[in-house]
Amino acid sequence: MISEKLQNAINEQITAEMWSSNLYLSMSFYFEREGFSGFAHWMKKQSQEEMGHAYAMAEYIIKRGGTAKVDKVDVVPTGWGTSLEVFEHVFEHERHVSKLVDALVDMAAAEKDKATQDFLWGFVREQVEEEATAQGIVDKIKRAGDAGIFFIDSQLGQR
Ligand SMILES: [Fe+2]
Ligand SMILES: [Fe+2]
Repeated sequence: MISEKLQNAINEQITAEMWSSNLYLSMSFYFEREGFSGFAHWMKKQSQEEMGHAYAMAEYIIKRGGTAKVDKVDVVPTGWGTSLEVFEHVFEHERHVSKLVDALVDMAAAEKDKATQDFLWGFVREQVEEEATAQGIVDKIKRAGDAGIFFIDSQLGQR
């Protein structure tokens, strides 16, 4: 059985994942309006992936005898500047999420809850991928410049 403290902390993370999902959906809508349909598609997939993280965490809490909660999700930003700025925001946000996940691992370790640590390591690894992917796109956009941006847009549309 999961402790109430860990249950509540993971429930907070569920809210954070749902916020991430909304953030990327908002970015998707923004890109759609700006005429970058590939980036918009990529962001929609990213949004779904974040919701998947929320589901996985809820499932885990329930399996361990806890209560999963759907809480209030704060509003997300709706406007950005260039495509580069949007992806820089993604990178910054994923770095922030990595810190949240690390703090959860520390909490589970302090409680000597091995199962929860094991569950969370999956998200530690996931965050390595998330940061690397966002960083990779930022680098690509920087190298491409204005001339290459639509090429990257169509590439990311293949996701
Ligand atoms: Fe996530
Ligand atoms: Fe993420």
